[in-house]
Amino acid sequence: MTTSRHDEPPSLGAENPSPAHVPTRAELDDMGPEELAVLAARLDDVEIVHNQRKWPVPGTRAEKRAERAVALWFLISALSAVAFIGVFLFWPYEYVAPGQPGHQLYSAYTPLVGLFFGLSVLALGIGVISYVKKFFPDEVSVQQRHDGPSDEVARRTVIAQLAKAGKDTDIARRSLIKRTAGLAAGVFGLGLGIAAVAPLIRDPWKGREEADLWVTGWKPVNGETVYLRYDTGDPSEIALVRPEDQDPGSMMTVFPFRESERGDEEALVKALRKSDNPVMLIRLRPGTPVTLREGQEDFHHGDYYAFSKICTHLGCPTSLFESQTNRILCPCHQSQFIATEYGKPVFGPAARPLPQLPITVNDEGYLVATGDFPEAIGPSFWEIHGS
Ligand code: FES
Repeated sequence: MTTSRHDEPPSLGAENPSPAHVPTRAELDDMGPEELAVLAARLDDVEIVHNQRKWPVPGTRAEKRAERAVALWFLISALSAVAFIGVFLFWPYEYVAPGQPGHQLYSAYTPLVGLFFGLSVLALGIGVISYVKKFFPDEVSVQQRHDGPSDEVARRTVIAQLAKAGKDTDIARRSLIKRTAGLAAGVFGLGLGIAAVAPLIRDPWKGREEADLWVTGWKPVNGETVYLRYDTGDPSEIALVRPEDQDPGSMMTVFPFRESERGDEEALVKALRKSDNPVMLIRLRPGTPVTLREGQEDFHHGDYYAFSKICTHLGCPTSLFESQTNRILCPCHQSQFIATEYGKPVFGPAARPLPQLPITVNDEGYLVATGDFPEAIGPSFWEIHGS
């Protein structure tokens, strides 16, 4: 006589059959956490060769010492997270030029944010590892590997194993560790939340159409000429660019310069350092076929084309120009843009062309910008298509 499948008790381990007896749902419901944890080991073909609790006698001085050592790491993590939040929110982050009062404080902003954030994550990680090392039982087990997805039995028994681990390490009575770990994780989470929400609170549109996201240092002010200059390493040494300074098939990084800023150390440094300002001036080889973008037919001067250096994917500097193929490469995630087709992306994750700066040569023979970029530079943002 054969037994139909409908006569069998429902098995929860059908997805991943195990040589051990697979309990029914009713049997599982009857089991306590201890039994489920043992079952978990058995179902996974785990043989526990040796298992000894770290602190068989509770409350010894050595145990207290171990507990304090773990708690110390969580405390360091919590304090670092508090410091991270404090620096992130209150440290002066607005640009201050070298030599100006407050420059040292401003320069310390990014290193301090990184230092305290890193320290917080590191100390939290060390705390967890040190808890496992100091309180988990010494156990030697042998396990056979299984393929395929986890079935319901495995999922439920794993949870039971975790509960058993908590019991074995007596986490319930280690209030110092629980409190400091909770504090560290809580403050760290708070820091992450603040970092995520802060950009929504600081209004990026404060200046409306003059907001930083729309304009760059190339924007003409009071009709003053904006020259292209390159960086010699000395901000006060003004090196303007003439067409003959550049070889065909080459690229040069240039920045904006206005005569009214000559001698103004702060303005000169700012023009060189402002992240929106770097532009790739590319001189194509004579006779290179080019496709121009509609409405931007007069943005170039002969074989000279100027594109924002800020990648439209995530804002890395696209510093590489491959003169054989006329491709501009971003080293961060390998986006490629083609200079002969208005900086259009042709490979990688970037989805928008590199914005092109309109340029010409003035009466004195220098390359100058005739306006700001016609669109926002760098990574896309929600409002960019509404502009
Ligand atoms: S930032 Fe350039 S490809 Fe990602």
